Parts: sequence; structure tokens; C-alpha cells
Amino acid sequence: SVTVTVTPIALDFTAVPHSLADVVTVPAGYSVSVLYRLGDPIAAGVAAYANNGTDTNFAQRAGDHHDGMSYFGLAASGNNPDPNNSTRGLLVLNHENISEQYLHVNGPSPAPRAESEAIKEIECHGVSVIEVTRTNGTWSYVQSSALNRRITPNTPMAFSGPAKGAAWLKTAYSTDGTSGRGTINNCANGTMAWNTYLTNEENWVGYFRRLSGDAAVRTATTPKQNVSLARYGISEPRNGNYNWATVTPSDSSSTIYRRWNATANAALAADGTADFRNEPFQFGWVVEIDPFNPASTPRKRTALGRMNHEGCQSGRMIAGVRPAFYMGDDAQNEYIYKFVSATPWSASDASASDRLAVGDKYLDTGTLYVARFNADGTGTWMPLVFGQNGLNASNSIYPFADQADVLINTRLAGDALGATKMDRPEWTAVNPATGEMYCTLTNNASRKPVASSGNTAVDAANPRAYVDPPSTSVGNRNGHIIRIRETGDTTEATSFTWDVYAFGAGADLDATNINLSGLDATNDFSSPDGLWFSLPSNVAGQQTPVMWIQTDDGAFTDVTNCMMLAAIPGRVGDGGTRQVTSSAGGASATVTTRIGKAPGVTLKRFLVGPKQCEITGIHSTPDGTSVFVNIQHPGEGATNPSAPTSNWPDSQSGSAAATVRPRSATIVITKNDGGVVAI
Ligand code: FEO
Ligand code: CA
Ligand code: CA
Ligand code: CA
Repeated sequence: SVTVTVTPIALDFTAVPHSLADVVTVPAGYSVSVLYRLGDPIAAGVAAYANNGTDTNFAQRAGDHHDGMSYFGLAASGNNPDPNNSTRGLLVLNHENISEQYLHVNGPSPAPRAESEAIKEIECHGVSVIEVTRTNGTWSYVQSSALNRRITPNTPMAFSGPAKGAAWLKTAYSTDGTSGRGTINNCANGTMAWNTYLTNEENWVGYFRRLSGDAAVRTATTPKQNVSLARYGISEPRNGNYNWATVTPSDSSSTIYRRWNATANAALAADGTADFRNEPFQFGWVVEIDPFNPASTPRKRTALGRMNHEGCQSGRMIAGVRPAFYMGDDAQNEYIYKFVSATPWSASDASASDRLAVGDKYLDTGTLYVARFNADGTGTWMPLVFGQNGLNASNSIYPFADQADVLINTRLAGDALGATKMDRPEWTAVNPATGEMYCTLTNNASRKPVASSGNTAVDAANPRAYVDPPSTSVGNRNGHIIRIRETGDTTEATSFTWDVYAFGAGADLDATNINLSGLDATNDFSSPDGLWFSLPSNVAGQQTPVMWIQTDDGAFTDVTNCMMLAAIPGRVGDGGTRQVTSSAGGASATVTTRIGKAPGVTLKRFLVGPKQCEITGIHSTPDGTSVFVNIQHPGEGATNPSAPTSNWPDSQSGSAAATVRPRSATIVITKNDGGVVAI
């Protein structure tokens, strides 16, 4: 247990009002600059982005849909880390998905897809590593830096941990199941204390084709795979996002398109190539990247389980204590997890030169737990260990064969243990001053007053189901942020207490049963997603971090574009209990929940984004004076690339042609007086 001193501070800005404008708005006294946009070249000699659908070579350009992001300080010269450098660093960020309509001259071709289009779309996914520098107060990225790297769905990967070499990881590409190609739909991130980056594979399921007859073939060979594919939502028949599997490659030996067709056996797929039935099991993992070594092979950390991994952030790293890594599985009614290393933290590992070997030490051996939230405000971390608690071959939900089977089928193991079904767990973040863990639960259209097929009843930890006009559908429309305090304030704990830090809601909604946190015009929000704690090291006596909340919303966008808020969060147990009644769809239920945001707790809107964007991804320099934020998919609603629904970032300056295509981008926020942002 650690002694904690929490020194209250104030947030030093005036709340930004709701906005539907096509700009990023920040408080008076702050400035925004655009740093790294879709298509920006990251190697010498690559042409500037034309942004008209003619651009190629995205393996040497910024990808699309910027998401989770970490800043790693670099030494003044060379490629070694310097965790204290706030003017030269590596910015590492995910490219989750694409706005396909803007990547081609006239939008995408129908299937069968043109190879020239598919390769652009594939390479727009993955991760960027770019060198960034601050010169005379201005940030830019270094186009020709030897440290720049694009990791794409085609980049070689190594499997690590208990599932390495498992039968289900064997593919035509890796016949021994120890390696794979690429990473996809990389959502949130993790910043490891030993200077590596975690990227997390979220909605990978959507990319796979599975043709009729696949289930029958598997029934005759690996029937458990049918149970697994169904549990992860890979239904049959399905085409797969973007139809990449329909490409006929110019290099007939290439399988980088064909692999997205997971249909078991080549005859069924009718294209004569080897089958890629196991490709779906190659995804859904946490992937560790050493950004300081561009030649390194990223490692898929199978000990952390397989799911729609949103993010993975560590708890406090305390010498002699086994560290924990907290994760959400973002789908309706999925679970919250933590992995606890078998090895206590050794502070000298923070400066080790073989960073992926340190990752092997802390991320390959340990225990994965899934969370159960009890109505009395307590909770339990239940171990997902083969042979314990019925996770064995005679389990009635799924016959587990070994630990690799438990990890590949993490969701089924969570089902077997009776974990609590949550309202779409997104990012996790740990308050460095207290060790308390926060997790955004973004919304859940299938949360109802009473359970029915496909729908889950309200409970203490997910207590709301309601209509938020103008929508007429019932569910947790606006999301909430749950938080836990580990027993003994230690990452090693197997139990915890919890409350709900804040419930999203419009300020106009019913204060008794919906706007439970008493939000007003300065801080009402919906669909929390990104979440991050900053603790600027240069503030004397500063021991209260700022918590940042970002939104990805469809329910509140009639009132305001998506946003970012800053908070001084308080402690678990601040607010006591509260009865909440859900009456909707002809049904009613009352549960008792636990309120976190107490009167006087500070929560203020700091930023509103441009049209049809999501705000996701945040990190800062170690001195706290520059905050990096990602603006994802502005103008995503358009279908005609000639009639974009946003012109950002060109519109940031106030004047942009109405036909300019929008671009996802990283921005930098600084305080005009040079101080620490937000405080
Ligand atoms: Fe990629 Fe759950 O957000
Ligand atoms: Ca997104
Ligand atoms: Ca997200
Ligand atoms: Ca989201």
C-alpha cells in the first residue's frame, strides 16, 4: 500500500461551449496547431499529399483515422530514449480505420476490388512512428527521419506468450503458429514504463469474409471453431469490410488480399489457393512495439487475451510489486479485464536497452482476470486460468483444452465465470496519485430495464436504460465512466470497490434517473471513450493529476460536435448510493447504483472538434506544456467525395473551399503563456 497525498488544484480555463462549427475550439489563452495529417509523407522524396484521391504509397505516408497515441522523449540526438525531453520525441499513433470515400478519385470501386485501391486501404491502417521536434516554440514532424516507420496489416509480427505455436494460430503464412502478418483496427494504446507502445486490435472481426458452407467444413474438422467464431461475431455468410479478398493480385503468389477470406478450404472459396481458415485467430490481441528500433518485429502478447481490445494501460509501477495492465473489450455486454504479471517490477527495467525483452518479462507470464461488479459496491477479479474454476474440458459453455485455448477464447472463459456484462468498455486509465482505475463505458443500445434475447437488464454497475430524444430507442444512450479502487491500493489485488465517476447526459435530461451527475452546459457530454491522466512533472508540489475525457458520440451530435473535457476526479466512494429507475419500452426496473462525481468535483469542457469527428488519442510532453490530440474521421458521413461534410483541417484557419476533402490529423495544444495545459 502506498501513502497518497492529494493536493487539490483548479483547472485554469473557461469552459468551451457546445459547437457545431467545422473547427477545433479550445479555451481563450490556448492555441491549436495541426501536426500530422492523413497522407503526410514520412520518408525523403515522397510527394506532398494531393488529397484528391490520386495519392499512393501509404506505407510511407500517415494512415487514416488517427486514434490512441503516445509521446516518447528522445535524447537530444541519436535514437535513445530520454523520458524528460519535451522538445524532441517519437509520436506513436494508431490508424484505426479508413474513410474510404475520400481515398479514391471517385470513391471506392465495387467488388471485385481494384488492387490499386485495396493496397491503399490496407496500408492506411496500422500504426505510425514519427519523429517530432519543437523548434522556436513550433512543433513539426521530421519527414526524413530514420526513426519514422509505418506498421501496416502487412508488417511481420511475432507471437509471444502461452498461445504462441497453438494449432489455431497455424496458417499458410506461419505453419508453426509463431508468426503472422500485421495488425488491424488499432484503437487505443498503452504506454509502457520501459519505453514501448501497446497497440490494440479492436474491430478486426469486420474485415473477414466467411462464405456459406464454412461452418459445415469446420464441423467435420474443428467444431470448436464454430463456437468460437460465433462468440466473436464472425457470422456466416459475410463478405468482409471493403471486399479486399476479391482482389486478383498482379503478383499471383501474393496472399495479402486472399488472407481476408477465412472460409475453410480452398474449394469452397473457389479460388484454388491455400485456405486461411485460421487468420481470424491471428487478430484480437495486444501488440507491443519498440518505437526506438525501426527494425524490430512487433510482438503479439497472447497472455493478455483475445477480444475486441480497446486499450491496455498499466497501473502504477512500484518496485517489488507485480504490475497490472487494465483492458476493456469494446462490444455490447462485454467485460473488463486486468493482467497481473508474475514478476514484481524492477525499476532498472525502465531504462533497459532490449525493451521487447522487458516486455517478455512482464507481459508473457502472469494471470489474466475478468471483473465481476457486485451490487454492494464490491467487486472480484476472477482468474482465467486453465484448470481453475471449471475452465476445463468438461465446461458446459466450452470445453477448454489448455491455457492457449482459454486465451484464444477469452470471452468464452469470461462467460464461464459469470463476469459482469458492461456497457461497452472502452479506454482504461489509472490515476497515478491514487492507483484508482477508470474505464469508459461508452453506451449500450442493448441495455434494457429487463433482459430479453440479445438484451441485458440494468444492474448496479450499468444502471440506466432510457430514451434520449430525438432518438426513440432504449438503452444506455450516453454512457458512463466506472472506476475501481483495488483492495489495499495494490495492483496485485483480487478484489476492489467501485463507483461510477460520472454519467454522460445532456444537461436537459431528467436529473432523477438520467443526469445523475448533475451535468450542466459547461460539462455535459455523451459517449465517453478516450481517457488519460496527466501528471506534469514540472509543477512544484503538484500531486493531483488532470483526467482527460474524450467523446465518440452519435446521441448528442444534434447539440454539439464531439469533445474533450478535463477533470479533477476525486476518489472512489465520494458520492454514496442512489436509486435509479429505468422506464422505457413498456418495462420498468429500479436498481441502486453508486455515485462518484460529488458536488464541487471539477469537470469542464476543454475542446470541441470539427464536424462528424471523434476525439480520440491524447498524450503530452513530459513537462505538460504541449498536449497532442487526435481528430478522427471529420466528415465521415459523406458518400460523395466531391461533396464532403467537413473541410477540416483546412477549415481550421476559417477559410477552406467547400470541396476540400477532410483528413484525420494530430493537433498540438499549447498555452499561450507557455505554461502547463489546463492548470
Ligand atoms: Fe475504436 Fe471502441 O473504439
Ligand atoms: Ca473510431
Ligand atoms: Ca474508442
Ligand atoms: Ca467508440
